[in-house]
Amino acid sequence: MNYKKSNFLIRKVHSLLAIIPMGLFIILHITLNSSVFYGGITAYKTVINVMQNIPLITEAEIIIIAIPIIFHAIYGLWIVYLAKNNVLTYTYYRNWAFYLQRITAVITLIYLLFHVAILRFLNHDASVIISVLNRTLQNPLFFILYVIGVLSAIYHFTNGIFSFLISWGVIVNDKSQKVLQYIVLLLFVLLGGLSVGILGKITYF
Ligand code: HEM
Repeated sequence: MNYKKSNFLIRKVHSLLAIIPMGLFIILHITLNSSVFYGGITAYKTVINVMQNIPLITEAEIIIIAIPIIFHAIYGLWIVYLAKNNVLTYTYYRNWAFYLQRITAVITLIYLLFHVAILRFLNHDASVIISVLNRTLQNPLFFILYVIGVLSAIYHFTNGIFSFLISWGVIVNDKSQKVLQYIVLLLFVLLGGLSVGILGKITYF
């Protein structure tokens, strides 16, 4: 296989993994965390306990979540490094979105490393995880940093859905692309609002 062909294939794998399984996981993750709105701290603790006790959860986490994210992140950083950012020359929205996709990629990476370290590797017990998160978010600086991290990840994902559907040839004409632009923006507002609400709720547990 020549260099161009293998590069094309790697890009396609990078792009597909971002939707399945990573995108599906993000939606499931936010949905499960929404339990804070229905049964408060008790429901939240139950959800964490149930997730931790799913058979073969560690193997599933490695294969379905960790490997795709590590691959997407490493190849993604290479794409960021290669990108030609010309936002100051062409200021229309899609050009900004291209630039923001790369900025949010780097912020998401830093955020994920912190998020996974404190809530997955350093702490295991559901009560401890909740109290660490609660204390962290009560610090206004960390609350703001958390909101920036979460919103960056969601912008990266929702704007990514737009480029995914276009690069895979699902949405082709101009008019559909304009509609899609509004749909992904709405998805960003909905998922972003829900996630910031979850952070706010955990802060006042
Ligand atoms: C962890 C650090 C991450 C880095 C460094 C990163 C990097 C990138 C880059 C550079 C692109 C643009 C690719 C292109 O234009 O060809 C991209 C696209 C994308 N990323 Fe990420 N990303 C990260 C995490 C995530 C996460 C957690 C998600 C969540 C689902 C995600 C979802 C997407 C989607 C849906 C696309 C669009 C794919 C496409 O254009 O076909 N990324 N990523």
